[in-house]
Amino acid sequence: MRSILGLRIKNYRILKDISLGSIFTPAMSIGQAAGVQKNAGEVLTPITVVVGRNGYGKSTLCDALGFIVDCLKSNAEQACLLRGGFERIISEGSERIIEFQIQYGRLLYTLCISADKYNIPFVYAETLSHISAEIGAEDSMNFYVKNGIGKVVRPHTNAEDIHLADTRRLVLATLGNLTEFPDIVAFREFLDSWYLCYFSPEAARIPPLVSSQRHLSANGSNLANVIAFWEREHPALLDDLVNQVFSNVLGIRKIETFAAEDGRLLVRFYERGLTKPFYAAQMSDGTLKLIAYLLLLGDPMPPPLICFEEPENGLYHRLLAAFVDEIRKRSAASDKRQSQFFITTHQPYLVDVLKPNEVWILEKGEDAFAKIRRASDDPIVNNMVQEGMPLGALWFSEYLDK
Ligand SMILES: Nc1ncnc2c1ncn2[C@@H]1O[C@H](COP(=O)(O)OP(=O)(O)O)[C@@H](O)[C@H]1O
Ligand SMILES: [Mg+2]
Repeated sequence: MRSILGLRIKNYRILKDISLGSIFTPAMSIGQAAGVQKNAGEVLTPITVVVGRNGYGKSTLCDALGFIVDCLKSNAEQACLLRGGFERIISEGSERIIEFQIQYGRLLYTLCISADKYNIPFVYAETLSHISAEIGAEDSMNFYVKNGIGKVVRPHTNAEDIHLADTRRLVLATLGNLTEFPDIVAFREFLDSWYLCYFSPEAARIPPLVSSQRHLSANGSNLANVIAFWEREHPALLDDLVNQVFSNVLGIRKIETFAAEDGRLLVRFYERGLTKPFYAAQMSDGTLKLIAYLLLLGDPMPPPLICFEEPENGLYHRLLAAFVDEIRKRSAASDKRQSQFFITTHQPYLVDVLKPNEVWILEKGEDAFAKIRRASDDPIVNNMVQEGMPLGALWFSEYLDK
């Protein structure tokens, strides 16, 4: 499975310049092929967990991922508007270009968003390049544009010009829909299916209209529809999940959906030892949240990238363990059931089960912008973990961040 090996974010709010993992940087200005150099960092692991004090940029990091998805699904202007406008997003005092680099397997995607003199955001530059297996060579540049003009390379043919009619839209959105560019389509589909979780128990309690839906919405408002999908498409899997996990960790022996006369879809939850069902309105926040998470993770084809912001909120620590177990399984799967995870947390129990190269620490520099480092960069931390100290305990005793 291909995954994100590295990520760089520049000029996005408090994230003035942070890099995670490894970026194979073409040593070139946009549009000129040349050699590549690999930065020093070890590639990202399937689980990336970010810790740090309040106000150090954890939510901003998750939101940066959401911003990229919003740019793809609508456009750069809309993505900025959703966040209060370009001025709110651009790092204070920086050059007015927000930049993202995503190293996805051997593909390097770069997206730069700026704003014009009327403050309307646009795509300043965008490139997708394939870095050859041999460092130092580049076998194909897939596309590049700068200020709406660029080129795209079809496999085995000459480059063709690109002239964008709308510079707010991503080239990735357009070319990523043409079957003649399979690499671009694959990368667009990958970005398109990221799942950024903002689960809200209140939203999940409102019964939606009857339908079955495969994908959980960001806030979980279609939880009942997802359960209906499982009942229809994966009844045996749902039984297993209920019998093996829900029953043990939540005391729920059965769940079923049921269509009300007015066209709304309700979920009945049967607790062990009780005969009458409960409905979502009566279920605890933590129970609803864990059910939603476990359905998301149990999907036979889960999203390739899942981002959870402080998933521990409202979860009893033993429930958190069940959740982390599932994450481990999904991240280690070798087939389509594999997902990559970005998680922010304040919970030492969660960090306890992680390895030092899975944990990143956000700090704030003298300049008021975020800095990030990997727990495994510190030999003392590595040694103590090797000697059997859990990482969360080290964090608690201020070995990770001081
Ligand atoms: N445009 C900006 N430029 C620089 N810093 C910013 C900008 N917007 C917000 N910030 C800083 O980012 C902080 C918010 O970070 P946030 O991601 O919410 O932290 P966390 O989730 O770790 O608690 C704010 O407190 C503010 O200091
Ligand atoms: Mg936050």
